Amino acid sequence: MTKVSIRKLNKVYSGNVAAVRDLDLEMADGKITALLGPSGCGKTTTLKMIAGLLEPTAGDILFDGESVVTISAEKRHAVMVFQNHLLFPHMNVGENVGFGLRMAGMPKAQRRKKIAQILELVQLGGYEARRPSQLSGGQRQRVALARALVVDPRVLLLDEPLSNLDAHLRDEMRALILRVQARTNVTTIVVTHDQEEAVILAHEVALMFAGQVAQIGEPKVFYDRPKTEKVARFFGGTNFIAGKLENEGFLTEIGHFALDQIRSDIIPQALTIRPENLTFATDQSTNIIPVTVTDKLFAGTFTRYQFAAKDGTPIQMTTAASDADRFNIGEHTTLYVAPSKCWLV
Ligand SMILES: Nc1ncnc2c1ncn2[C@@H]1O[C@H](COP(=O)(O)OP(=O)(O)OP(=O)(O)O)[C@@H](O)[C@H]1O
Ligand SMILES: [Mg+2]
Repeated sequence: MTKVSIRKLNKVYSGNVAAVRDLDLEMADGKITALLGPSGCGKTTTLKMIAGLLEPTAGDILFDGESVVTISAEKRHAVMVFQNHLLFPHMNVGENVGFGLRMAGMPKAQRRKKIAQILELVQLGGYEARRPSQLSGGQRQRVALARALVVDPRVLLLDEPLSNLDAHLRDEMRALILRVQARTNVTTIVVTHDQEEAVILAHEVALMFAGQVAQIGEPKVFYDRPKTEKVARFFGGTNFIAGKLENEGFLTEIGHFALDQIRSDIIPQALTIRPENLTFATDQSTNIIPVTVTDKLFAGTFTRYQFAAKDGTPIQMTTAASDADRFNIGEHTTLYVAPSKCWLV
């Protein structure tokens, strides 16, 4: 197990492209951390610098408190599995997986045993003699994972490990990564642009925008306590109601809302309510929003309503599939949000 720390890391590519800017990050030892963010935010660049495949312009990377930036990729023991995992086509599975061990000079018999063990771990026991061309996409992905794991890396770096797979294989691979990581306890960093994937795979998520970390924490925090509107939106938050703090709560054009928590770290500009945290009001008289139905969508397992509040503020609600026939477009109703589900940004 290895603790990875990143201090004021910068990467400026030629042409003055600042891909990573003063990045600070502490990654949990022996856990899975997801580096999440939109395309081009610097995820792969960060991963390559951790692996030692790209030299930082400035800043430091530490493994267990020791700087590794001057240590070559081979000696760093941080193994990266690329977005387009390239296997050697002229080598069979066993040779592909054993490549790193052969380079390290491990004797053949020992190598063979280790390869068999690791193939078993990724559920490809007995596949040694197959060529990459004789494998499915999901199997190739697992061989690439086995090839990385076989050298007992200190840090496992996975760049979009599920992106080349269809939905079914994606579920399988996701489960496999979780199982393998739990068995080996290798400190793992997974890069993804998909928030759902990050939440399912990672113990901790670091959300990046434009080369910097916007927020880091347990997956749940990004839903309950997003630091900014931008973070909330990235995680599917859709309702933002402008207003200001007043009387221990938040005053908006569509009413006063009681809150469980008042943030002191910012001057809040808006109340945010996740679409799944709204309910149809029953007998509540506070924290209610009178609305008109403007649209609705039945999505099989849930229903999404679009409303307009009295001043026109759009409000979105995700509710049970069985609520689909409850209201028609143009009808009026009242929504409720519990104080514990109100958050300010
Ligand atoms: N070799 C390079 N030279 C110049 N600019 C580069 C180079 N590699 C990446 N960039 C730029 O640096 C920024 C970050 O790129 P990076 O590949 O790290 O993004 P990413 O977050 O991995 O994106 P994606 O999700 O699309 O893979 C982008 O603006 C990209 O165009
Ligand atoms: Mg990338």
